[in-house]
Amino acid sequence: MTLSATTTSTSTRRGLHVITWGCQMNVYDSARMSDVLRPLGYEPVDAPDHADMIILNTCHIREKAVEKVFSELGRLRNIKNTREAEGKQTVIAVAGCVAQAEGQEILSRAPYVDIVMGPQTYHRLPEMVARAARAGGAVIETDFPAEQKFDFLPDSAAPQTAGNLTAFLTIQEGCDKFCSFCVVPYTRGAESSRPVTSVIAEARRMVESGVQEISLLGQNVNAYHGEGPDGKTWGLADLAYELAKIPGLTRIRYATSHPRDMDDSLINAHRDLPELMPFLHLPVQSGSDRILTAMNRGHTADEYREIIKKLRDVRPDMALSSDFIVGHPGETDEDFEQTMQLVRDVGFALAYSFKYSQRPGTPAAGAPLQVPEHVKDTRLQALQALLRQQQDDFAESLIGQTISVLLTGKGRKPGQITGRSPWLQPVHITGTEELIGQTVSVTITERLTNSLNGIMVKETVDA
Ligand code: SAH
Ligand code: SF4
Ligand code: F3S
Repeated sequence: MTLSATTTSTSTRRGLHVITWGCQMNVYDSARMSDVLRPLGYEPVDAPDHADMIILNTCHIREKAVEKVFSELGRLRNIKNTREAEGKQTVIAVAGCVAQAEGQEILSRAPYVDIVMGPQTYHRLPEMVARAARAGGAVIETDFPAEQKFDFLPDSAAPQTAGNLTAFLTIQEGCDKFCSFCVVPYTRGAESSRPVTSVIAEARRMVESGVQEISLLGQNVNAYHGEGPDGKTWGLADLAYELAKIPGLTRIRYATSHPRDMDDSLINAHRDLPELMPFLHLPVQSGSDRILTAMNRGHTADEYREIIKKLRDVRPDMALSSDFIVGHPGETDEDFEQTMQLVRDVGFALAYSFKYSQRPGTPAAGAPLQVPEHVKDTRLQALQALLRQQQDDFAESLIGQTISVLLTGKGRKPGQITGRSPWLQPVHITGTEELIGQTVSVTITERLTNSLNGIMVKETVDA
């Protein structure tokens, strides 16, 4: 297959506006869609009002996803109409997980939409744009193509990262785990991993453009099983060792991990590689074995505790982040108390918690014993209070400690610059802009609501 985007050039400059909702993988995908459209003359514009093409990249993970899409589309239709009155065309495209799950409904309820495309089809975008222009009707691409989009997206000079010090890099997509509550296996398709050489090449391009910290992305990033240059299958640990060899790549993160795939080789990589940041997002969802089984998570609460212990044995400064769902069908007060106990036992530096939301087509949606909304509310409040306390305690524990901070940009006040701690907290210091791009030693002096203040003590940090 040839990709017209890489060969077509046009002198017509067109405005592209991308609206991105959902997870970091959508953020990455939006950047790649911009890449694939650039050779057609599309350049990013800040407001949809000036755009010849608007892409709405959607998320389906929790409730009201579809309503939110239609309400936004109503706004975009007004823009399209106003521009049409001025003699200008606007292509409206809906991408992402709602497009995948509800493609037909979007076309029938919003006939002014020109393109509907699932997450595995973005490499075909130039062809879709051409088809939409030719046919004058809507184009829908929601099959899961046999080819992998990553093999067909153009090699860009990583423009999403131009001038950036941190970047996302998707290495794995899709999911075969079928948790009872989750739409992802249906919207993103089967699990697949990019080959090692393609990942390394993209990482190198990012580093050459100035990136120092890369976050590897995947719905189950630690289930990564890419084809290695030796013809063997490489796991995430193997990939991490290889990435750590790239000069200038000082920080590596990965998300989202599944406890089931947290094997010893990956845990040992945290022991061996200072580049692997001591901060891991490892969703557990519940602390009750009964509910973990109902969720089809494939591990027990104690197995999760054991993984955390191993990680902290090899990396004592390891901090944890997680996702929780309260009110999964069948969850009793006692089950919920076990979640609270797990939180107390582990101690999280950060966490996201959600009320269970019935997703169409998922097994839990039709399960008996749905938990009433007010019970979910009460549980969520209790859990969030505990998690907030832990987040504050963790930040507080850093006061007086000297930590490494990658300085990424200007601060909020004049004379201030801001960076990132190893645990993803924003850190503010007094300093000048020439320091941006350096990793420095900072002694933490104060905790703010969601960030830290500190004083720089040394201009460079030994890895
Ligand atoms: N692959 C990751 C999670 C991806 S979805 C994992 O397995 O952990 C991100 C988070 O959204 C999940 O961890 C879960 O906490 C939440 N989530 C997913 N489906 C949900 C639903 N139906 N209701 C409420 N929260 C949900
Ligand atoms: Fe969804 Fe479970 Fe897959 Fe995570 S592992 S994406 S929660 S099905
Ligand atoms: Fe949302 Fe799809 Fe990501 S449902 S969380 S955008 S994989």
